Amino acid sequence: MAFERVGVVGLGTMGAGIAEVFARAGLRVIGVEADAEMLARGRGLMERSTGRAVDKGKLTGAERDEILGRVTLTTSRADLRDADLVIEAIPEILDYKVSLFEDLDGICKPETVLATNTSSLSVTAIAAATGRPGRVVGLHFFNPAPVMRLVEVVSTVVTEPGVVGAVSELAGRLGKTAVTVGDRAGFVVNRLLLPYLNHAVALMEQGVAGRDDIDLAMKLGVGLPMGPFTLLDLIGLDTSYEVMEVLFDETRERRHAPSPLLRELVTAGLLGRKSGRGFYGEERVHPSEAGRSGAITFDVAGPGSEELVARLAAAGFERSGEGADVVLRLADRPVVEHAVRLRDPATMVGVHLVGDQVAELASTALTSDAAAAAAADLMKVVGLSPVPCKDRAGFVVDALLYPYLNDAVRMHDAGYASIDDIDAAMRLGCGYPAGPFQMLESLGLARVRDGLRALYAEYREPAFAPAPLLDQLVTAGASEFPRR
Ligand SMILES: NC(=O)c1ccc[n+]([C@@H]2O[C@H](COP(=O)([O-])OP(=O)(O)OC[C@H]3O[C@@H](n4cnc5c(N)ncnc54)[C@H](O)[C@@H]3O)[C@@H](O)[C@H]2O)c1
Repeated sequence: MAFERVGVVGLGTMGAGIAEVFARAGLRVIGVEADAEMLARGRGLMERSTGRAVDKGKLTGAERDEILGRVTLTTSRADLRDADLVIEAIPEILDYKVSLFEDLDGICKPETVLATNTSSLSVTAIAAATGRPGRVVGLHFFNPAPVMRLVEVVSTVVTEPGVVGAVSELAGRLGKTAVTVGDRAGFVVNRLLLPYLNHAVALMEQGVAGRDDIDLAMKLGVGLPMGPFTLLDLIGLDTSYEVMEVLFDETRERRHAPSPLLRELVTAGLLGRKSGRGFYGEERVHPSEAGRSGAITFDVAGPGSEELVARLAAAGFERSGEGADVVLRLADRPVVEHAVRLRDPATMVGVHLVGDQVAELASTALTSDAAAAAAADLMKVVGLSPVPCKDRAGFVVDALLYPYLNDAVRMHDAGYASIDDIDAAMRLGCGYPAGPFQMLESLGLARVRDGLRALYAEYREPAFAPAPLLDQLVTAGASEFPRR
């Protein structure tokens, strides 16, 4: 299967980028748009994108001209008759795609492979609209296509042997990493990413923590490129909502139902960056006041106390013991049971250190505002970013991270994708510093399993129960996942 001439239908955000990627790799590209106006727009997108590459010194002017010279633009689908591969990037509406594929089936040679860039529709349903379902695959690029290195290659139950291999090899020629997956809603990246984002919205709606604090905790605590609310704004709340709907349709899991707040914002036209306002509006200030230096008396309890006492002492704060303004209770579980044993339960604040920059500060139902404020000030004087939250299992970071890791284990155990493919997909598709299995192994399997048990006990959400594979590996004393 030699792919030399490639058709791209729809030259919008994704299609223009995909056409550029093929042309950069030396293939001849036929770009098809709906009408002359959209064709001119598509050409403009490609010219600007390659122009930016020249400005950054990544391409010479001559290379840019060669790349654009390899692309033929047309409004006639019939021009695709000689293409070896056609990839579709028109709007995410099944009827549109089905009708396009019916047409392409009649126009293209019988051996031409037809691919869809759909993010969430059924590739199988699109394939079934053609007389060559065995030669229809998903080829899911990420935005911006010229930059993002991941491509998900989606096969269906009727894909002919050899087609996926050939398309994956082509992705390699484009300088991309291909992960091969079956046809399940969301594939790997959206299936793991969107439920985590939806869960962040739910935690905020439950008042466990605020928008900025959740974003800060995931960014500084876990090392993600951005927090969930910033990412939702970037993806677009409407797109996120649609993907959640598709996931819910397939799984019927309550946690996959789009959060009510997401629906409200979308209905209000607050779609995120594309509409100028979403979870964040114009105001994007993150006040970071210096820690208070006035007199705060404190005590510290729980595992790791000595180290925190030493850090506070180095900053000039001495532990005072009995009668302190605030009792910092180091813990990775809710602290209310410790608070009720104090003479003054209002003084207790749970402290959970995440990474070396973040301190989650859990206020129980009894914690006073003064104690919470004192705890935040003390964290700032030792250089930690305080993340105030409610006294709930997993606080913020573990509550969001562990179910995501658990989902990855279930996905692998169901035979959907390999450990290496899932890790690569999340690193390259989301820019995460490590894939979920790498994160699991560096956190420790037992710690994550126990954290999931605590989350399940508190929230009674079936999906939070540790995946059987994780549980069994912990029981067997393993510290790594077996790579099959
Ligand atoms: N935007 C993303 O981040 C992203 C990421 C991955 C996948 N996708 C998927 O890629 C596809 C396209 O998304 P997009 O964001 O590029 O959309 P878009 O709206 O930016 O572009 C769609 C383009 O298709 C053109 N078009 C519509 N009907 C056509 C037809 N019949 N023939 C030829 N051209 C036609 C439109 O004129 C438009 O230029 C969708 O399936 C989407 O789910 C999007």
